[in-house]
Amino acid sequence: MTSRTTPRRTVLLAAAALTTATAATTTGCGSDDDGGDGGTESSAPPSAEPTATAPSASGTAGGTPLASTSEIPVGGGTVFAERKVVVTQPTKGEFKAFSAICTHQGCTVNKVADGTIDCPCHGSRFAITDGAVKAGPAPRPLPAEEITVSGETITLA
Ligand code: FES
Repeated sequence: MTSRTTPRRTVLLAAAALTTATAATTTGCGSDDDGGDGGTESSAPPSAEPTATAPSASGTAGGTPLASTSEIPVGGGTVFAERKVVVTQPTKGEFKAFSAICTHQGCTVNKVADGTIDCPCHGSRFAITDGAVKAGPAPRPLPAEEITVSGETITLA
């Protein structure tokens, strides 16, 4: 005797009306047949695309103001994590800029101290003068970034 026809249209409708979280317990725990209109609960999140590069409005020829020269300590530097760049001033009036993305595994460097740009992830350190690897597992120097210093304004090209 098999009486497993289970007219659960109303149940499914009610379940659909509710949220799928709670409905899962009432309906389909061990359904055996193909119902045809089963539960397709693959709801993709509306905004889950981390676009890394966005060269939209102003990204060419002109540059974007990054900082004031007074923000960059002589013999040190400042990390601009949002802009993924680190600006250093090895000697007074000499400014350099490098990518803030570590060449090891892509962490963002977070500190400039004792003449080096430091990565917090695995300890790589890069020279503030040219981005060269001074310590750690990083295989390559930090790539140089182009900046322009005009008066007291440092602009990222
Ligand atoms: Fe920077 Fe590993 S990601 S040291």
